[in-house]
Amino acid sequence: MTRSLHDRIVAELTAARERTTLLTDAVDDSDLVRQHSPLMSPLVWDLAHIANQEELWLLRAVGGRDAMYPQIDPLYDAFEHPRSQRPTLPLLPPDQARAYGREVRGRVLDLLERTPLSGVSSGGLLADGFAFGMVAQHEAQHDETMLITHQLRKGSPVLSAAPPGPPPADAIRLPAEVLVPGGPFTMGTSSDPWALDNERPAHTVDVPGFSIDTTPVTCGQYQEFVADGGYRDPRWWTQAGWDYVSRNRLEAPLYWERAGGGQWVRRVFGRQEPVSPAEPVLHVSWYEADAYARWAGRRLPTEAEWEKAARFDPRTGLSRRFPWGDADAAPGLANLGQRYLRPAPAGSYPDGAAPCGARQLIGDVWEWTSSDFLPYPGFTAWPYKEYSEVFFGPEYKVLRGGSFAVSTVACRGTFRNWDYPIRRQIFSGFRTARDASLGLVADRSSLCAGTWHTWVRPPRCGRC
Ligand SMILES: [Fe+2]
Repeated sequence: MTRSLHDRIVAELTAARERTTLLTDAVDDSDLVRQHSPLMSPLVWDLAHIANQEELWLLRAVGGRDAMYPQIDPLYDAFEHPRSQRPTLPLLPPDQARAYGREVRGRVLDLLERTPLSGVSSGGLLADGFAFGMVAQHEAQHDETMLITHQLRKGSPVLSAAPPGPPPADAIRLPAEVLVPGGPFTMGTSSDPWALDNERPAHTVDVPGFSIDTTPVTCGQYQEFVADGGYRDPRWWTQAGWDYVSRNRLEAPLYWERAGGGQWVRRVFGRQEPVSPAEPVLHVSWYEADAYARWAGRRLPTEAEWEKAARFDPRTGLSRRFPWGDADAAPGLANLGQRYLRPAPAGSYPDGAAPCGARQLIGDVWEWTSSDFLPYPGFTAWPYKEYSEVFFGPEYKVLRGGSFAVSTVACRGTFRNWDYPIRRQIFSGFRTARDASLGLVADRSSLCAGTWHTWVRPPRCGRC
């Protein structure tokens, strides 16, 4: 067990570093030090920040070593300098940032080789290799952040990947929504060894019955909202959402543009392409997701509903680690790890479906929920309160499930992400829900493609 834990740590650290290297070697040094958007750091900041956190938590906190370069610590403290100011800092240039990362990693692997992970008391940094797992997750999360920067970056494309395959043949016959019966379930975890503090502890939540979309809302569905004047009708928006879209004159998801003939196109990692109706919609804010749901006569799921749909197995009464069971994610189960640079078509990954029948709950797009980011009952900040605790409150909304950009090490059924409701540059989409007590619905196969929600709205089907 100990040997396999060592091996797993090495594999996860190595996988994260390979992705970091690919994302930062893809551009030249002038691109690395440039700020591509005030929303993001220059890529070279991420590069050295990853190394600095690895040094801080593994070499210093676990290994008891002194700081290698104490003068650079403040530069890479995310709380000291907002992203917009980071280009003005005396950051390590690209060659030194890379060398720092290599130096830290070499010492970390040496430390790991000499650190026994068996017989370690529970609850500490070394229990189940937690600190190593936390650092691997941290780098993987920055790999997602850096991919967001790549998407914001102007200029010729530097990243490419094959597209995901077509959806399975049964995708068109899937029901529009699936029912999750009411009752208690176990939310969160007290046993997943690398789960972060905000996922803990496991606790029972009684969730009334609800129905949830079988797949994330697609671009085709979202286009109907746009075409129906959804962005111009305050009925669908909260006051804050309406103020936001009005002030910023939004009329579609981020990166969408109208081409000749009124067709929607979008920019994907530097390439323009037609909007794909079958793909889950991406780059929408919480306000947009919430407005769409209201337009569709539905609502966003709560965080507890999302997790129950993803994890609850009614046959055993237990909560799984993932929709498909307790086994780790694999390529046939979910679209994770930047293997593709886009979500897979709605209805993909039947082997990764949850017991309730919902698909793509893990991977593809982060899914906005209606819930504020709050601590679970019994929460304890660990190992530092700046990971989660300082963010708890109503200003952040929870996203679940991970996107195509998320590594398998930083994604599980209990994983919680959070962001401001205005955020659109993240790889965010959503699915909708409704109370189970609200009437019957039609089957998706009886409706025209792209009108899957019209049974709760006046019937309109202009595309058939
Ligand atoms: Fe970080």
